[in-house]
Amino acid sequence: MVGTAHPNTGVEGVDGGVGLTALLVAAARAIETHRGDSLARDVYAEHFVRAAPASAGWPVRLQEAPDGDANPLWGRFARYFGLRTRVLDDFLLRSVRTGARQVALLGAGLDARAFRLDWPPGCVVFEIDREGVLGFKQEVLDGLSATPRATRLPIPVDLRADWDGALADAGFDPAAPSVWLAEGLLFYLPNAVETSLIDTVHRLSAEGSALAFEVKLEKDLLAYRDSPLYTSTNQQIGIDLLTLFDGESRPDSVGDLMGKGWDTSVHTPFDFTRRHGRGPLPEPNDALAGNRWVFANKPRPSLC
Ligand SMILES: C[S@@+](CC[C@H](N)C(=O)[O-])C[C@H]1O[C@@H](n2cnc3c(N)ncnc32)[C@H](O)[C@@H]1O
Repeated sequence: MVGTAHPNTGVEGVDGGVGLTALLVAAARAIETHRGDSLARDVYAEHFVRAAPASAGWPVRLQEAPDGDANPLWGRFARYFGLRTRVLDDFLLRSVRTGARQVALLGAGLDARAFRLDWPPGCVVFEIDREGVLGFKQEVLDGLSATPRATRLPIPVDLRADWDGALADAGFDPAAPSVWLAEGLLFYLPNAVETSLIDTVHRLSAEGSALAFEVKLEKDLLAYRDSPLYTSTNQQIGIDLLTLFDGESRPDSVGDLMGKGWDTSVHTPFDFTRRHGRGPLPEPNDALAGNRWVFANKPRPSLC
């Protein structure tokens, strides 16, 4: 195991530490779901928020948020998560429609895609997160009698450990194409864990596999530490993202993948705001300025 001493893992469930960020994203998805111009729908999200004592009083509709859309946390930041959800929904569905049948959600949190999306027959969704988070998620889903729309396999494991063994035990086949997602995850992990995670994904990916992940440009983390998004998240719900983010310098995972032969493309969230005609746009002192969404494909060998 590498990096066991990282401070943001003190709490194993969703009540605090990095687990609480899964509820933050769920609340944002709930709000997005109820918007008239919503980019993504997640009917499970508000049930997660209401079920956890830590978040039971948070808004799940924009009308419940002080100042509505002008609220930096429940307006702009929640819209960011709504856009991210939509873009990564589209990425996953595109990938399974072109051949992959194994979907691995790394740091899955309260992601309900196994229940929400229209998966082609034969898809298996592996959800990897820590036991406390997946245990809470299961309780809520059981209470709703929710039925997944693909085979769903929760894998309670810490990504700082050797998680590939747990994935293999669950039936993951490295010889078949797969699609991987690390949404809102890597900046919480120590440098060596991210490097090892990317290497493991590479090792377990057959040709024709795809990966999407989110990074933050390191220089922007401190530059925007007093941005309205960070300060309002801390003031309104007590999540200090800057202390949860890993403080080490970040590895060059895009360069790493390119060196391993993957094709990559890197986008700002604002690229997709423009594409969809809604979502956050750049503003001064912007915590989103350094966010990048990376899409990578492991090419199939050419026939000639
Ligand atoms: C911001 S949430 C994102 C959850 C989900 N991907 C989404 O976008 O809704 C971060 C998630 O990463 C998980 N996580 C962070 N560190 C982890 C680790 N070392 N092992 C497994 N999961 C981890 C947390 O438990 C949490 O569920």
